[in-house]
Amino acid sequence: MKATAKAHTNIALIKYWGKRNEELILPTNSSLSITLDRFYTETTVEFNEQLTSDSFYLNGEQASEKETLKVTKFLNLVRELSGDTRHATVSSTNHVPTAAGFASSASGYAALAAAASKASGLQLEGEELSKLARRGSGSACRSIYGGFVEWQKGTKDDGSDSYAVPILEQEAWDLSILSVMIESKQKKILSREGMKRTVETSPFYDGWLKATEEELQIAKKAIEKRDFELLGETLEKNAFKMHATTLGADPPFFYWQPATLEIIDYVQQLRSQGVLAYVTIDAGPNVKVICEPKDEQKVYQTLSEIDSVKEIFVCHPGPGISYL
Ligand code: ADP
Ligand code: DP6
Ligand code: CO
Repeated sequence: MKATAKAHTNIALIKYWGKRNEELILPTNSSLSITLDRFYTETTVEFNEQLTSDSFYLNGEQASEKETLKVTKFLNLVRELSGDTRHATVSSTNHVPTAAGFASSASGYAALAAAASKASGLQLEGEELSKLARRGSGSACRSIYGGFVEWQKGTKDDGSDSYAVPILEQEAWDLSILSVMIESKQKKILSREGMKRTVETSPFYDGWLKATEEELQIAKKAIEKRDFELLGETLEKNAFKMHATTLGADPPFFYWQPATLEIIDYVQQLRSQGVLAYVTIDAGPNVKVICEPKDEQKVYQTLSEIDSVKEIFVCHPGPGISYL
């Protein structure tokens, strides 16, 4: 009747950017991520026959009607699967900034999928749990697993083959991911809205699709061979291409701020000094810098000298779902 789950966020090295089915959250391309140890969500779900509606508390405060409706829509999927029609109280704590480009929707919906399914007596694991989490937020399907994870887009219309698979476990390859915060405010254009507009209106979207499948294959090969330089070059190119598509949208938009470019410039300078560091950016202005652990100190030092940098969160590969 009651369950608590913990899920970590993930950072995409090859981005998910666009849906072929919005209702089922089916992506146009496969994507690849690393689950992070530093950022996570803890969610408790309790079903109770006394309740006449669902309620949702985020970080100790009752969420807005709109946010609660999103959670109810998700719980409806769980109720359909379990046959349990009771309403629920959902309490969630984000140990990550919410809606700021740090993937709170990934840890948020992975934790909700795990807690809600367990509380309703379903025993979902792996593939099935990943598919459920996907229905809340696409990137959440990857947070079921730790380490390096691929979301295979699938080909079926019903989404039955669109889920994440672990490709390398957390301990197998340690990398440093420095999450550089320049802005903790919520983004103006949520990921969902941004990718939809891009798919519908950007003439650059076809170019993105063409490049990204090949970049995914290169990234997977680089992971297999532990070739950090190849992985870094590939993930940086992929992130830049994703952001380029938004400039072609109608109306056009972009997530970057002046400080975003400043950090990119510093990272390029580091590379010219022989330090292998690469950037990736999600739907927001904040930058994630990826390097090998041996260079972490040097990269941290360099980035912390930039005035516009508010905070740097040092992350490493993290674990998959757990129950508390
Ligand atoms: P982010 O970069 O943080 O993933 P998104 O735009 O993808 O930003 O998603 C933000 C949305 O994710 C929020 O508006 C909210 O609807 C949802 N969300 C965030 N945290 C949680 C949570 N703990 N539980 C349920 N939903 C959440
Ligand atoms: C840029 O998973 O947040 O972070 O499926 O609409 O909830 P919805 O979007 P979301 O999109 C993530 C986009 C991204 C890239 C990625 O994480 O792969
Ligand atoms: Co998100």
